[in-house]
Amino acid sequence: MADPITAVESLLLPVMEAVAGRAGVDPVVRPSEHADAQINAALGVAKQLGRPPREVAQEILDQIAASPACQGVFASLEIAGPGFINLVFSDEFLVSSLREIAVDPRLGVTPVASARRVVIDYSAPNVAKEMHVGHLRTTVIGDALARMLRFMGHEVILENHVGDWGTPFGMLIEHLIDLGEDQVAAELSLGDLDGFYKQARNKFDGSDEFQDRSRHRVVLLQSGDAETTRLWKLLVGLSTKHFNTVYDALGVLLTDDDLAGESMYQPLMGHVITRLATAGLLNESEGADVVFVPGFTNREGDPLPLIVQKGAGGFNYATSDLACVIDRVERLGADLMLYVVGAPQQQHLSMVFAVAELAGWLSPPVEAVHVSFGSVLGPDRKMLKSRSGDPMKFADLLTEAASRAGDAVAAKNPDLGAEQRSEIARAVGIGAVKYSDLSTDRVRDYVFDWDRMLSFDGNTAPYLQYAHARICSIFRRSQAADGSGEISLAEIQQLALTTPQERALALGLLAYPSALADTLSTYSPHKLCTYLFSLSQLFTSFYEHCPVLNAPAEVRSSRLVICDLTARTLSHGLGLLGIDTPEQM
Ligand code: ARG
Repeated sequence: MADPITAVESLLLPVMEAVAGRAGVDPVVRPSEHADAQINAALGVAKQLGRPPREVAQEILDQIAASPACQGVFASLEIAGPGFINLVFSDEFLVSSLREIAVDPRLGVTPVASARRVVIDYSAPNVAKEMHVGHLRTTVIGDALARMLRFMGHEVILENHVGDWGTPFGMLIEHLIDLGEDQVAAELSLGDLDGFYKQARNKFDGSDEFQDRSRHRVVLLQSGDAETTRLWKLLVGLSTKHFNTVYDALGVLLTDDDLAGESMYQPLMGHVITRLATAGLLNESEGADVVFVPGFTNREGDPLPLIVQKGAGGFNYATSDLACVIDRVERLGADLMLYVVGAPQQQHLSMVFAVAELAGWLSPPVEAVHVSFGSVLGPDRKMLKSRSGDPMKFADLLTEAASRAGDAVAAKNPDLGAEQRSEIARAVGIGAVKYSDLSTDRVRDYVFDWDRMLSFDGNTAPYLQYAHARICSIFRRSQAADGSGEISLAEIQQLALTTPQERALALGLLAYPSALADTLSTYSPHKLCTYLFSLSQLFTSFYEHCPVLNAPAEVRSSRLVICDLTARTLSHGLGLLGIDTPEQM
């Protein structure tokens, strides 16, 4: 384990146990502003022993001095304030930790000891409706979490809970019949899902005859009528084809195998009602079957019901989400379910989880978490709109990203060939869109700002990608000089930390495992972004102060190892966020 704080915590455990006179005493080592880290456990142990904290701290220092395992680890240890211990790692210790990660493809990150089976519910656009920028957030955040959790060794199941069922399908299918299948296929393959939906809606609002047909069509769909089912499948197929184009452009993990739409849970709906009834949770309210959930009230303070059935067979979104909990827990055996869904659905999901708990379908260690997120706003701080004033379409946004990035890349490096430039522009454009989304704390709204996200300065994808590409160019030049592009064991042996900038960068590199752990502890990708940004700032200051290629041979080898580790960490970290790192920019 190369993360110095974690490594030191395990070295200090026997020391703490000896001082406290009992087993399992956490040394509580935390990063500190005054030193490399701080041991915070003396105060607690002192309280428990009824002794003065500084005296206990001194005893800890004495024990460390006497511990063979701790020899050479610290450059200094000092008691501070009421009984904290400030510690500075020795350079030898940092160097030996760096040597470990230099030969580790996982960069010091060990897989979790107990892997969980995680279902991530994300993306989930609605059939026959255009994906909008709200779907951008769930897709990008969910995908980053999936990559990180997989890397940590968890078993991750992706579920794209598309909206492919419900009463609107009556009017959509009738409209499909009116227009003719070929015509509709042609229209939808252009990606104009919204237009189709609006036409159907307008007809529905304007014609009683169309309304009657649509309602009848819903009944046919629910009863499994073969021709209706065929038409429904046609619509779903055309929409998912469009979703896939967007997923391809965006570079996310989702495929057709991950589709688990609302329709999939329809056969289970009756079962949900029966089980709720058996559990004694079902009530009748204004002709509907409902569950009252303790703790949920409306504005007047009256108990708020979760409606699960309006009349015979009138199941809804809540019923399918309950069926979905049962399916994920009982069929898939999930013990963690992440719902990457916007903040407006907070109450819906809390109520679904609460009902599932009451019914006994969801209980520890199984956990359901709403990974909530805020809205994407335009520069006017209102919902993001396109130039025509319509809601911004996801597909258009990605095209615009690549073209704007193309201009930015051309300005930065005019010598690139056209093909290479368009490849880099794609990585930079998509990277910029993803990163601007991921780097804001997901619970907050964020302003979608092309100029800021495509800037080569600041906490942006282009800045990080450029830092990575710059290191690659150092290696291209070093290779031209000595013919070897690979870091060798001999070079790793030369590692030394001779300047404060190298030392600071070394500490940054060694913090990668804890940055990841921190990110996943709250499912907040922005924490990994913050880490990567500060790492590249540390690199910039290193590179300003420490010549690499012009340094004497030994120093040069050592610095090349540090450069290599930085490039690998940037590339790996951005990779976990779903962002590519071109070697040249
Ligand atoms: N289709 C829904 C929407 O676009 C999101 C579904 C989220 N997942 C869930 N299990 N409810 O708003």
